Amino acid sequence: MKKASLCIDRHYIVGDVDKRIYGSFIEHLGRAVYEGIYQPDSPFADEQGLRKDVIELIRKLNVPVVRYPGGNFVSGYHWEDGVGPKENRPEKIELAWNVIETNQFGLNEFMDWTKKADTSAMMAVNLGTRGPEDAKNIVEYCNLKGGSYYSDLRKKHGYEQPHNIKLWCLGNEMDGPWQMGHKTAEEYGRIAAEAGRIMKMVDPDIELVACGSASHAMPTFGTWEDTVLAESYDQVDYLSLHQYYGNQENNTAEFLANTVDMDHFISEVLSICDAVKAKKRKKKTINLSFDEWNVWYHSNEQDKKLERWVKAPHQLEDVYNFEDALLVAGMMITMLRHADRVKVACLAQLVNVIAPIMTSDTGAWMQTIFHPFALISNYGRGTVLNTLVNAPVYESRHGDAPYLDAVCVMNEEDETVTIFAVNKDLEDSMELTCDLRQFEGYQVKEHIMLTHSDVKAENTEEHPDNVAPVKVENEAMDGGILKAVLKDKSFHVIRLGK
Ligand code: AHR
Repeated sequence: MKKASLCIDRHYIVGDVDKRIYGSFIEHLGRAVYEGIYQPDSPFADEQGLRKDVIELIRKLNVPVVRYPGGNFVSGYHWEDGVGPKENRPEKIELAWNVIETNQFGLNEFMDWTKKADTSAMMAVNLGTRGPEDAKNIVEYCNLKGGSYYSDLRKKHGYEQPHNIKLWCLGNEMDGPWQMGHKTAEEYGRIAAEAGRIMKMVDPDIELVACGSASHAMPTFGTWEDTVLAESYDQVDYLSLHQYYGNQENNTAEFLANTVDMDHFISEVLSICDAVKAKKRKKKTINLSFDEWNVWYHSNEQDKKLERWVKAPHQLEDVYNFEDALLVAGMMITMLRHADRVKVACLAQLVNVIAPIMTSDTGAWMQTIFHPFALISNYGRGTVLNTLVNAPVYESRHGDAPYLDAVCVMNEEDETVTIFAVNKDLEDSMELTCDLRQFEGYQVKEHIMLTHSDVKAENTEEHPDNVAPVKVENEAMDGGILKAVLKDKSFHVIRLGK
């Protein structure tokens, strides 16, 4: 059995967990909106056509913020098409995903939905085919009390009170050649700065996220971040990161080693943010919004066969397996280890489209990745402790990959410490030791494990509980030292308290 240890000190902290790190994303894409969160003809729909069964599952995920309406979609979107009487809303071709958008669901319906799902909005503006003028108008529509054209228009649409949306994305993946209105870093930096400046004139309390690179592998990665921030540093509060991983080569060890790449990606973007800060001699620090992250590759081939100009097709419907759940856990642990600077993160996406929740006409079910997200989101609140991981490593294309991904979160309010750990070893169990003598009187309250003998095991509508968390017999604490056995290929939540 391999051996590993965690070294922590209750005074040696990374930072407080910003709860928005447990955000997610709903785009007008495939069946995320239509048949996902909104399906008026479903027996599960409420009086507004919102699916109650889906809302119930989202509440279990405990998602404090949801990014909307895109994604690539936002770069061609006219938000005005989705507000006002539904019978007047236009059906339009949607060029990001080659479908027909009916606009039967829009900004106001989304805001109603956020209340029912116990979440809040992170709204994106179109800086692809549109620009600062449109960005100004949507902030006015959403956040001003009244007495101006767009705020009064909102009232006319039945929304007397402002939506008060405080977190805004300045476009989406503007470095990507696939993006409508794709720009060079200089062009985007300028438009982000000007749109941001004008949006803050309308509501100075909003926070803005500028687009970083669409992935770590983009050829312009690095120079893009540097140039965009050089132009827009004063106006923006966060820089975005997007990253999806896949196991196209069917190599589980390499796939799970992607947490090393994610860690490097975060550190490198932080270095650039801080280098621009130094060059500009600024006091303000730019933090990170990892506003698209997940596993995405299972549906790629299928999606190439899709017919154009249909409504709400089955698009990006990845069916997740157990190894995907392990990587999702590892990615969340990686972000928590940077909790001092990663303030917002969005699992992309939430329903039907590369999602933890799937729907059919007869129900909604949890994919494998639902479980690590729900466990970490629910138990990972508090302060992240600097967690030194002493574990054996294996070689990967990203360099040495530890067999163990782990982090400890302390919650002083409810007097708990929670260890999140992934044993990436595909053959061997691991004996984990952690010295918790500083936490006098703490015992193991609960040990939850997610594991399966088959890394390719999936949850389906017929077998929704194939991959699901189980309780492990309480581990012994001996003189304040925790010893736990982590089964091969498994994710663990070990909760300690008084
Ligand atoms: O989440 C799916 C797509 O991935 C988003 O629309 C886009 O921003 C990214 O490329």
